[in-house]
Amino acid sequence: MNEFTHKTVLLNEAVELLDCRQGRLYIDATAGGGGHSIEIAKRIAPDGRLIMLDADPAAIQACSARLEEYKEIVTIIRSNYSRIPDILKDLNIDKIDGGILFDLGVSYYQLTSEERGFSFQQESRLDMRMDPDNPLTAYDIVNSWPEKELQRIFHELGEERYSRRIAGKIAEIRKIKKISTTKDLADLVLKTIPRGGQKIHPATRVFQGLRIAVNRELEIIEEILEKVVHLLAKNARIVVISFHSLEDRLVKNAFKSFSARCTCPPEKIVCECGPPILKVITKKPVTPSAGEVKENPPSRSAKLRAAEKIT
Ligand SMILES: C[S@@+](CC[C@H](N)C(=O)[O-])C[C@H]1O[C@@H](n2cnc3c(N)ncnc32)[C@H](O)[C@@H]1O
Repeated sequence: MNEFTHKTVLLNEAVELLDCRQGRLYIDATAGGGGHSIEIAKRIAPDGRLIMLDADPAAIQACSARLEEYKEIVTIIRSNYSRIPDILKDLNIDKIDGGILFDLGVSYYQLTSEERGFSFQQESRLDMRMDPDNPLTAYDIVNSWPEKELQRIFHELGEERYSRRIAGKIAEIRKIKKISTTKDLADLVLKTIPRGGQKIHPATRVFQGLRIAVNRELEIIEEILEKVVHLLAKNARIVVISFHSLEDRLVKNAFKSFSARCTCPPEKIVCECGPPILKVITKKPVTPSAGEVKENPPSRSAKLRAAEKIT
């Protein structure tokens, strides 16, 4: 198994915006290697509490080791973050009075691990599951989903302009043989679409679309943002780091709707939409400094948005 490595993105910015305070409860919903968690733990120890979640057992192992010295104040749970409301109920926690952080997407470990099949950089079986117990893999989608669905995934989730052509080629090839590995798929894409002078590998968008579909990333983040805002106590913060425009749009829209003033039509005498419940703290998304991008190029697409509960 590869060693767990991940360079934390927007570390200081995220932790500052979470406004970590002693005695309060924080959740790191995407603990990964514990890079953000350890800084949160330092600030809230000795009497704060940090709940760390990740769907990936390799991340749980890595962050447990890293946070060992803070074990008195840390609870680490392997779970999809979609289960946060149930987890809090099980722990008898009513409200999150500190804040919650989502650092979305994949860890560097997942992206580069041969066993996990996320990337065309190395040959491995098409997989792409954040949670290895998830029954659906990228292999299943590529080899058995209808051509139309493949096209939709590549178009909507990968923003790939040759989605139809690629889905058609997959449907043709898989009648003859299974498309089993990341290399099989990357080679197929390379042979199917014209090579413009792109900066990224031509299969990047197809892989992005598949990864989002396998892990249901957009549905899950949209649903949990809606729920978790109601679990924040007054003055608690929510900080979200996203890595592509589809995710960032969901975060931006969720924050916008929760922070909107009354939108009732003028003829309504009594407001039916209720007061705003969030105040957006980052008018524009925070992005990594030139120094961070130089040191950690994958950070270049990160966007951080933060908001505070006001009711
Ligand atoms: C970018 S990494 C987090 C890195 C971490 N902040 C650090 O600095 O070490 C994202 C992590 O979120 C996890 N993840 C993604 N979607 C998830 C979900 N729906 N539920 C739980 N964990 C998820 C992934 O397994 C991965 O470990």
